[in-house]
Amino acid sequence: MKIENAVALVTGANRGIGRIFVEELLKRGVGKVYVAARDTTSLCDVLKSGDRRLVALPLDVTDPDQVAAAASVANDVTLLINNAGYAAFDGAISAADLDDARMEMEVNYFGPLALTRAFAPVLAKTGGAVVNMLSMLSLISLPMAATYSASKAAGLSLTRSLRGELAAQGTQVIGVLAVQTETAMGAKLPEPRLSPLEVVTDTLNALETGINDEVIAGAQTRAVHQAFVADPVKVQAMMLTRLPQRV
Ligand SMILES: NC(=O)c1ccc[n+]([C@@H]2O[C@H](COP(=O)([O-])OP(=O)(O)OC[C@H]3O[C@@H](n4cnc5c(N)ncnc54)[C@H](OP(=O)(O)O)[C@@H]3O)[C@@H](O)[C@H]2O)c1
Repeated sequence: MKIENAVALVTGANRGIGRIFVEELLKRGVGKVYVAARDTTSLCDVLKSGDRRLVALPLDVTDPDQVAAAASVANDVTLLINNAGYAAFDGAISAADLDDARMEMEVNYFGPLALTRAFAPVLAKTGGAVVNMLSMLSLISLPMAATYSASKAAGLSLTRSLRGELAAQGTQVIGVLAVQTETAMGAKLPEPRLSPLEVVTDTLNALETGINDEVIAGAQTRAVHQAFVADPVKVQAMMLTRLPQRV
């Protein structure tokens, strides 16, 4: 799809990769961006340019009432970017309880599922597109982020099914795979890290080419992905040595 004059909604738009999505969409001539955040006061930096194409939207992706309200207010959306994410960075066994594992599923899996369901009728009017921010950990399990990896694997599986189901209405569905990226979340992962701009640029370029598939975003991700495709057993075995650290 073309970004020029599109109407986008970005979840988790207040910081990290979401914020860069907003900046790049504006540069590419988007018509409007609903900048969604669970606390709209956290959007003040994003909104400070005064760009009239920016519309703040309160949205906790785990709250069904807020998801329904967003789909009702933002009923002109042509591009849904499910970017919001949560990662506890703990082990499946070492975690104190299941609270973080459940939250990862709520934000990273049920959130994009609920939003895509809510916006599917809106997108059907134009075809439109959905972008789901996934991770290389959708493909490879990392013990130090065990339950996050599982939630992103669920996200990838969901993204592929959505692509099939939404094809009939002409909706493009992209899943973005990326390795560790320079944001608050990525800071807990080892260097070197991708720049959020590289992730966003590769994603928006792919979107504009009309690709209806996964995007392997960033040179560092492409290198890891190539190694994984060449020898998945070896790469997975190497990752199994990255265990949760107790401080
Ligand atoms: N950084 C990486 O290494 C990396 C690599 C691959 C993929 N990703 C994925 O890329 C996406 C963006 O991550 P990031 O690196 O930008 O992370 P980040 O800097 O930690 O930002 C996370 C964003 O998600 C929002 N969020 C969390 N829970 C939410 C909820 N219940 N409802 C609405 N928004 C919520 C946060 O809002 P608050 O400010 O309110 O907390 C924040 O805007 C995520 O899906 C992440 O899994 C990240």
